[in-house]
Amino acid sequence: MLHQKNRCQTPISDWRDRCADSVCWNNDCRGVSYALSKAGPLASRELPMSQLTLSRDVLMRQELEFAESLPTEGEVITRGIRLYDLGVKLGLFGRSAALYRHAAEAVLPLDGRRVLDIGCGTGLLTKEIARRMRSGTVIGIDASAPMIDYARRKHASAAAAYRLALAEQLPFPDASFDAVVSALFFHHVNLDLKARVAREIARVLKPGGKVAIADFVIPWTSFGRLYARFGWHFDCEDVKENVYGAVAAALTDAGLVDVHETYRTLGTMAVIAGRKQ
Ligand SMILES: C[S@@+](CC[C@H](N)C(=O)[O-])C[C@H]1O[C@@H](n2cnc3c(N)ncnc32)[C@H](O)[C@@H]1O
Repeated sequence: MLHQKNRCQTPISDWRDRCADSVCWNNDCRGVSYALSKAGPLASRELPMSQLTLSRDVLMRQELEFAESLPTEGEVITRGIRLYDLGVKLGLFGRSAALYRHAAEAVLPLDGRRVLDIGCGTGLLTKEIARRMRSGTVIGIDASAPMIDYARRKHASAAAAYRLALAEQLPFPDASFDAVVSALFFHHVNLDLKARVAREIARVLKPGGKVAIADFVIPWTSFGRLYARFGWHFDCEDVKENVYGAVAAALTDAGLVDVHETYRTLGTMAVIAGRKQ
């Protein structure tokens, strides 16, 4: 998916220090509003940048950057959010709905379950899971505050909750989910983060819990090879590792079992399913 890169190199501890007030750091959007209120008039975009002195300008730009996403080496999407859902539909040649449907079906049954959607973006897969639940909860997490804000407004449902959080540092206890899903997220993180997120998935899953990841995998057609290559040249460099089979390998290395592809489309996209023993 075409997007603006937003790699924040600031360690999480620095971010916490900047928001030393106890209400600020709580891993959800209250922290962001606090940071925005600290950024003052620029945050509400009342003052043109030209009216700011250089030092204030730099400081406020930093505040806004902190406010928009949590610090991660993953590629966080903070721009073009309103066009994102359309972009996914077009970018996947109309196959996105089927991809989300198969990801949801890979973790059935859903009634009464607690499900986590990692890198939920605007909530497309979260909403698909929530739609299939008569009871239960699905929590979508993302490192982008604008994504979470949009998901809360556009893809809200009684069963769905959205939270600002890092995939590599999930703010949930061990064995607290029946299933973990994720779509189009793993090609936004580098090899090291893929491994860390896979370990987090294994940690938060209950024994017997299921996982389903929809993303680029090793291509099996010429179209798939071209499509994936387009992905890593024009979108995310990290697509390349997916294409070498890194996602399934990370899940297996994290101790998940029965890792296999359940659905394939576009010559390089698949739902990878697995479970915790
Ligand atoms: C291509 S989008 C996929 C969104 C959604 N799952 C979908 O299918 O449309 C990838 C998402 O991963 C998020 N992301 C990137 N790095 C992250 C990280 N370390 N922790 C949490 N979210 C992250 C981005 O902000 C973005 O919303």
